[in-house]
Amino acid sequence: MEVRMQKNTQVLQVVVPPGRGPDVLLSSPVIQAAAKVLQQGGLVAFPTETVYGLGANGLDSEAVAGIFAAKGRPADNPLILHIAAMETLEQIVPEVPPLARRLAQSFWPGPLTLVLPKGPAVPAVTTGGLDTVAVRMPDHPIALALLAAAGVPVAAPSANISGRPSPTEAAHVTADLQGRIDIILDGGPTPVGVESTVLDCTGTIPVILRPGGVSKEALEDVVGTVELDSHVQEGEAVTDGPARSPGMKYKHYAPKAPAVLVRGEPPGLFMRITELAQELDAQGEMVGLMASRELLDYWRGQGIDQSKWQVMSMGSRTNPGELAANIYRCLRELDETNVTQIILEGVPAAGVGLAVMNRLQKAAAYRVVDA
Ligand code: TXA
Ligand code: MG
Repeated sequence: MEVRMQKNTQVLQVVVPPGRGPDVLLSSPVIQAAAKVLQQGGLVAFPTETVYGLGANGLDSEAVAGIFAAKGRPADNPLILHIAAMETLEQIVPEVPPLARRLAQSFWPGPLTLVLPKGPAVPAVTTGGLDTVAVRMPDHPIALALLAAAGVPVAAPSANISGRPSPTEAAHVTADLQGRIDIILDGGPTPVGVESTVLDCTGTIPVILRPGGVSKEALEDVVGTVELDSHVQEGEAVTDGPARSPGMKYKHYAPKAPAVLVRGEPPGLFMRITELAQELDAQGEMVGLMASRELLDYWRGQGIDQSKWQVMSMGSRTNPGELAANIYRCLRELDETNVTQIILEGVPAAGVGLAVMNRLQKAAAYRVVDA
């Protein structure tokens, strides 16, 4: 039987002096205190450039077990190890294939996670029993300072309760994990907003297991051909057989109300979404929408009454970075309303838009309508 200790979670503000890197933060008492908690086997949530992570010493089995307990995460879903220096990679993997080294040189620090054969120092609990390990160097001064001060690779999944949207603000972490972890470092909103791209580098051609902050196009500019895992490609959940990335088979990022994703190009897309919202409305549903600025403009232009709907504006369809930065906050905000049906506007899947569409598909539990 599980006995969960109620922890006294401290939320600590970290202010990054403008224009300064992680070095200036290294000596900060807050970073030092958080690093000590990590060294002693505790749990610290911290901002990265993508989303907030829930960190523990990745080489300490008991500490890592604490992450799974705090999140309610299935034990076979492996974690990403976070490092602040290339040298740390040698502690984690027996060798770095040339292709992986080139990718690390081009994209680290940054939102790219490399899956590599694992070395003996990494405990099985960190990798969910797999013989590979996922590693990345985050591009955030607070994360880098914390990792450097802790001096160990830090295992960190997104700092949400399993099945909730990833946290892009410290308040999201507090909402999910208050009382379950030791420290939350508040460094403001995370700039990228979707998680890192997970790239399997164990074969000759790298395979994207999870689209994320680094686009397929950017990877291909550096290493030529990159494949998309077939499940990502088809936008389907893995329901049978082994998943290459165990995270793919779990329901993720799902809002409380059922959601449907509508795909297509404007103006047909906008017309279909509007019809659907009006239909649901007529059936007595409380309608929530995740919409682009362009859809809002379309409604204004057509004089469509949207006053009864809960509308979250994700940003411009032409700016995938803006959509990515807003998607999880919008999903969480919709959850705080009384909507009973959610309509998600599909966006162009180019660049980081691929990651946005992947998260929207998951939020819709793969209920997709073509306009
Ligand atoms: O941006 C991010 O990656 C954030 C921040 C905190 O760094 N972290 C994050 O971790 O999103 P998490 O645990 O929520 O997602 C990690 C994903 C999961 O889908 C997991 O299945 C996959 O990476 N993964 C981890 N280790 C793997 C491995 N050895 N082989 C295949 N997939 C792996
Ligand atoms: Mg996650």
